[in-house]
Amino acid sequence: MRTITLCSGKGGVGKTLLATSLGKIIQRQEKCNVLLVDLDLSVRGLTLLAFQNKYELDQLPFSLTDYFYLEDGDQPELLHALHKGLVQNNSNGEESQEVAVQATAGHHPTYERLDGLFIIPSSTENERPDWMPLHHLELNETIDKLGKFYEFATSSLPVDYVIFDTQAGLGSLSLAATTLSDMNLIVLEEDDISWRTALNAFMEISTLNKRLQRKSHSYFLANKVSSSMLDAADKLKAFSFLPPVPFDAWVQKLFAHATITVLENDFEGSDFFKQVESRVWQELAVILGVRQQTSGNGPRSSWWRG
Ligand SMILES: Nc1ncnc2c1ncn2[C@@H]1O[C@H](COP(=O)(O)OP(=O)(O)OP(=O)(O)O)[C@@H](O)[C@H]1O
Ligand SMILES: [Mg+2]
Repeated sequence: MRTITLCSGKGGVGKTLLATSLGKIIQRQEKCNVLLVDLDLSVRGLTLLAFQNKYELDQLPFSLTDYFYLEDGDQPELLHALHKGLVQNNSNGEESQEVAVQATAGHHPTYERLDGLFIIPSSTENERPDWMPLHHLELNETIDKLGKFYEFATSSLPVDYVIFDTQAGLGSLSLAATTLSDMNLIVLEEDDISWRTALNAFMEISTLNKRLQRKSHSYFLANKVSSSMLDAADKLKAFSFLPPVPFDAWVQKLFAHATITVLENDFEGSDFFKQVESRVWQELAVILGVRQQTSGNGPRSSWWRG
């Protein structure tokens, strides 16, 4: 079981796009089940991207908002509902044929958005994220609640990787996610605010994880890098930078016009996706110990390892 959290200081840097692309790539290359969890309860970019059918989204028995609303004693029942929904709908599971028939007959709600790629929404359409008092949730309580969810997911659900997509700016949920991760990817763009806030995020994550004696490594991931800066960004390896991802005008346009989503096959033709697959994942896989280093100077080191 391996766990990755994507976070950032500034918003809009590409966390959701990267999390989803990595989920697809890992599922396919490692031939395993990947669970993507939307921890962004206000923007909920991953939820909107993955569940475009609002009716289908509303039918799902479990969302993170549901889970965080409930008192501790009531959570097991909800987790049981998640287990039932997810295991029954698993394409590798025993009941998959029945589900496939239902799916073609109508809108059968499923967490499995692609074969082996499960996505848990932050909230359903009926829930108003702005009702959530989560912004004020105390960090220790959030760590405890998210920890219980994680423990359940990793021990009871058929998943090999968990990827947390978080809200920009490191709220208590994002910080809690880093305490459960093997690897935190702090995504940033070229601008000054993005760099500064990414550095602050790095320090905050390191301090918390050291205090809790958690093992997690943090790396910077520069996204939307202009062609003139790519070489320079690539040389930042010594400072815990993963290979940079170039700015891709096609991807930007795609989102502006909402034509196709990252879950569709056509997206894989993008330069963005190819770079994440051929460079970012290759490097991450070596750091996570699932691949051997093929060439170069060995895996990147992290400034801090807990
Ligand atoms: N490499 C790239 N080249 C061009 N556009 C990109 C690239 N990466 C992301 N984008 C665009 O940036 C926008 C924000 O992406 P995304 O929603 O993934 O960011 P985010 O960090 O999750 O945002 P938020 O903080 O709101 O959750 C999208 O319009 C997306 O198409
Ligand atoms: Mg997002």
